[in-house]
Amino acid sequence: MNSALHPAVQEPDAARIRGEQRSQRLVTAFVASGLVFMLLPGTFLGVWNLLDISAGHRPEMVPQAWLQAHGQAQIFGWVGSFILGIGFYSLTKMKSTKAFPVRAGWTAWSLWTAGVLLRWIGGVTGDGWRVLLPVSAVLELAGFLAFYVSVRRHRPASSGTKDNAWLLLVGCATLAFLVVLAVNGWMLFEQAVRGNSAALPHVVDQQFVVLAVWGVLVPTIWGFNARWLPVFLGLRAPNQRSLYAAYALSIAGVMVTFTRFLPVAEALFLLAAILAIDALHVWERSVNPPKVLNVHRMFPSFVRLAYAWLLVSCLLAMMAARWDVSGGIWGASRHALTVGFVALMVFAIGQRVLPAFCGMHVLFSTRLMGWSLYLLFAGCLLRVLAEPLAYENVWAPAWRILPVSAVIELAAVSLFALNLGVTILRPAGVRG
Ligand code: HEM
Repeated sequence: MNSALHPAVQEPDAARIRGEQRSQRLVTAFVASGLVFMLLPGTFLGVWNLLDISAGHRPEMVPQAWLQAHGQAQIFGWVGSFILGIGFYSLTKMKSTKAFPVRAGWTAWSLWTAGVLLRWIGGVTGDGWRVLLPVSAVLELAGFLAFYVSVRRHRPASSGTKDNAWLLLVGCATLAFLVVLAVNGWMLFEQAVRGNSAALPHVVDQQFVVLAVWGVLVPTIWGFNARWLPVFLGLRAPNQRSLYAAYALSIAGVMVTFTRFLPVAEALFLLAAILAIDALHVWERSVNPPKVLNVHRMFPSFVRLAYAWLLVSCLLAMMAARWDVSGGIWGASRHALTVGFVALMVFAIGQRVLPAFCGMHVLFSTRLMGWSLYLLFAGCLLRVLAEPLAYENVWAPAWRILPVSAVIELAAVSLFALNLGVTILRPAGVRG
């Protein structure tokens, strides 16, 4: 059709397509930088740490600042960048009348990426950390604010309330993200002024990890699962009340973590996880055929398995609150949560949705997707089994299993990055 003949029809369409293309470029940038953070500052450093710990048979073998730099790169550099990218992409679907915020988007990407990078450099090198850590916090916060303001401005006037539990959850998690970054800034300024190294005090750091993982990552996943699982897995629509209850319990758990009544906090997290599984009908039969075109056929099973890891993590945390001496049960619990639940979910859902979000691509290889999921599951299983046995001095041969788990997970992560990387570099629409 000729736009000169139908200006009224063509102009909004052209603007929509331009907005979509801009958002696709931006989400591609967030996904690409997220993959880089996941691979090198995140996983490679994590593997390095674990190899050192296993060689010395002691968790204290590795500087705390390195462990923290690894965790930061994974949570903020990888998963955080993916969340921001998907958030910007979703603006084009909000039916807002405003143009896509190109400048705010790229400002957010630059500030965010620079902030996460400086945080990692300050932690790992220990050079100039008194300046780098607070500066990194300011950049991360500023980047996130640029994102947050854009999202708020583009909200349609009325989004209705029916079936919108997912929006509420994702909205709360976004607000919590802002709180997490403000807390991060406050902690890092304190550290720069009063601390004597780039490593935060252990207890403060662990509480912060709980805040970031349970406050942001877990509810974001539940929110997007509420939206996508009925479509991708053919599950019944979520039970909104149970989902809200699960969310409320998990937030209560986060708050109690700061009071240090850890067994109570862990019991709240366990209840929250059970309620969320029930609310999302994760383990029930699909009522419609799952959508597995262009993804690995086991995709629905891995989404369901991720929730098994969430439960395992909560059960291990309850055991840790009672019996942990050297960090092995806590470590296994955190790994079940971050790798078993979060990373497995991102591997499964990410390879399903991101190719389309980055510009109507088709996933490069369903076979690579399958391998990345199987290997991540196997590596996580070995790690979660071996870590308590090794760290808690129960069974010495477990020290030899930990490096194997690390290498298997590295392979999984590399295949995921390769598959998504090739997918977004290829021209749109190419298959196989
Ligand atoms: C893929 C291979 C991975 C390896 C080999 C690995 C290794 C490690 C190691 C050795 C620790 C130190 C604590 C302990 O001994 O348990 C640790 C902590 C941590 N990891 Fe990982 N990890 C991996 C993946 C991930 C992923 C995917 C995430 C998040 C999405 C993550 C988040 C964290 C966090 C938050 C901590 C705590 C850091 C802190 O104490 O501040 N890790 N990891």
